[in-house]
Amino acid sequence: MEKIAFLGLGHMGEPMARQLLAAGHELTIWNRTAAKAEPLVAAGATLAAGPADAVRAADVVITMLAGPAAVREVADAVLPALRPGAYWVEMSTVGPDAVRELGARVPAGVTLVDAPVMGSTDKAAAGRLGILAGGEAAGVEHVLARFGPVTRTGALGSGAALKLVVNTAVLGGVALVAEAMKLADALGLAEGTTKDALAGGPLGGAVARAFATDVHFGNDLAVKDVRPRHRVGPTARHGGRVGPLRGGRRRPGPRPRGHRPRGHAHPRGARDLRGPRVRETTSPEATPRTPSPDPAPRAPRSTPPCRSPSTTPPPHPAPWAPTPRSPASNSMTEEPCCTSRAR
Ligand SMILES: NC(=O)c1ccc[n+]([C@@H]2O[C@H](COP(=O)([O-])OP(=O)(O)OC[C@H]3O[C@@H](n4cnc5c(N)ncnc54)[C@H](OP(=O)(O)O)[C@@H]3O)[C@@H](O)[C@H]2O)c1
Repeated sequence: MEKIAFLGLGHMGEPMARQLLAAGHELTIWNRTAAKAEPLVAAGATLAAGPADAVRAADVVITMLAGPAAVREVADAVLPALRPGAYWVEMSTVGPDAVRELGARVPAGVTLVDAPVMGSTDKAAAGRLGILAGGEAAGVEHVLARFGPVTRTGALGSGAALKLVVNTAVLGGVALVAEAMKLADALGLAEGTTKDALAGGPLGGAVARAFATDVHFGNDLAVKDVRPRHRVGPTARHGGRVGPLRGGRRRPGPRPRGHRPRGHAHPRGARDLRGPRVRETTSPEATPRTPSPDPAPRAPRSTPPCRSPSTTPPPHPAPWAPTPRSPASNSMTEEPCCTSRAR
């Protein structure tokens, strides 16, 4: 059976490492705060003095750390000590960029696999996590299966990418449940009645997650998963990455107040994703406090040509596979598509 090194014994890492001990693996552990390793040492694991010592003889190295910065820091110590033929399975939620960065650093002969997990501390303790494994995972799939069912997601980085997608959906659902509960409170409804009604609807899973008491997922960890840096805007279909959808520096300059290109319909109250400076005259929050006189008639603005189906760009490639970017394809400078025209 493989010798395994497990680095990062936080809320998730500790119960996961315990699964490996229970399965009979020879386990060496390391955690920045050594005291957290004591229960596992009592259960039969060997505590290493540092991350490099932990991995030196390991066939499989598993990291379950807070985020990209922690992985980077641990990598500095671990990379020179990895033995040829070893696997490094990165299981933290770090996103595909961090995996790609790590992939460029691993020495020849070492196989990196990204395998973030779905499920929280309760499922980690029960060995029922969902594992999203990207890269050449065949050699370690049986080890990953100790934590729960394994889904092979594709190339290196695809597991990390899918995990971000999943967390965006889960955290969005939890936020929606919070909004609904707030509305229910404002309307004088009982919390239990509202919760039961929501639990029986399409947001049932999010309700369970929002009210779970036997799990621990730090807010700081959740925030890192939905921060704008991970977001890929509409231009991704052109292979371009964009930053925050709102408030970024790459926006064009401000438009005249209340300006809206003729013939472009926006839903009432909708915000223009090109940035907060663009105000919607139909939005209550954008209504000027002092009514202004009717604006003078404007000369029609020139709008870019509509895209015909034959010029529709191809589907975007995987974000972890860098592709050349078309300079004309940044939606931050694009007009809304003609398909939204109402008249
Ligand atoms: N909790 C969940 O429900 C859940 C579910 C799925 C995925 N995840 C993901 O799994 C990962 C771990 O989550 P967790 O809940 O176990 O987090 P956690 O309890 O906060 O543990 C974080 C771990 O990272 C270590 N660490 C942080 N910064 C470090 C650094 N600079 N150098 C070395 N070690 C460092 C911590 O060491 P110390 O003990 O010394 O602080 C600890 O072992 C995160 O990426 C999280 O997003 C969490």
